[in-house]
Amino acid sequence: MQLLDGKATSDQLKKEIAEKVASIKQAGGKVPHLAAVLVGSDGGSMTYVNNKVLACKACGFDSTLLTYPATITEDELLAVVDKLNKDPAIDGFIVQVPLPKHINEDKVTEAIDYRKDVDGFHPENLGRMMLGLPTYISATPNGIMELLKRNKIDTAGKHCVVVGRSNIVGTPMSILMSRNTNPGNCTVTMVHSRTTNMKEICASADILIVAIGKPMFITADMVKPGAVVIDVGTTRVPDASDPKGFKLRGDVDFDNVKDKCSWITPVPGGVGPMTIASLMQNTLLAIELKNR
Ligand code: GUN
Repeated sequence: MQLLDGKATSDQLKKEIAEKVASIKQAGGKVPHLAAVLVGSDGGSMTYVNNKVLACKACGFDSTLLTYPATITEDELLAVVDKLNKDPAIDGFIVQVPLPKHINEDKVTEAIDYRKDVDGFHPENLGRMMLGLPTYISATPNGIMELLKRNKIDTAGKHCVVVGRSNIVGTPMSILMSRNTNPGNCTVTMVHSRTTNMKEICASADILIVAIGKPMFITADMVKPGAVVIDVGTTRVPDASDPKGFKLRGDVDFDNVKDKCSWITPVPGGVGPMTIASLMQNTLLAIELKNR
């Protein structure tokens, strides 16, 4: 088994972005500026957003963090989005999800100017991604593609099974892996909570991408010998022995699966850092796509 080291790959990617930003700066161009909107005080979301701000610093970007209490109304949040849409200093922004129940996430996503939607969640950007047109691709699927590419993992003609059908990971992932690109060119099967023969389908995967949010869901008997296993899960599981009081757990039973596969992402240190580096890539692209 070889570890698909998302931390090392993302550090390299951020270094390359920082070099590009340095030359933009030198040429007197605008430094990318990312804004992040955080609503409420969910621990996981706070950590992700703080890591995104830290990554901006590492890449030489400007960043703005806007935090609001969970009691913010939908109209107030839509007004924040409108202001960011119109602010020429901001090249791209994200609204961290999940949002409190009283706010319609789709409405917020659709209110974001698609040219600043560096998350790639807007229908315009998802549509462009489906058609293979230049756009922002959602950070997690894009980060996984980059991880496969940079580690020279052969995907053409392979059977890729995507577990989970979320709008931000499973669905775009399945499309990207089926496209005529490298990585890509896979025969893709998407499985979800209503799939009846989950075990058999997963065990037939050459590439298994799991984004279901259920710790230890994928057990060794669901993995084909020699498979490439990508674990998107990051559930906080209470753990009294940990100073933070929890441990991050992936969707894969890592200890029992690792010796069966050819490559596997660890949790943490696999997909998570790639997602953040990929958001940085999108923010840099924002400068280039701004005037399309
Ligand atoms: N919540 C979990 N992942 C993401 C992400 O990539 N972007 C946003 N905005 N929220 C998230």
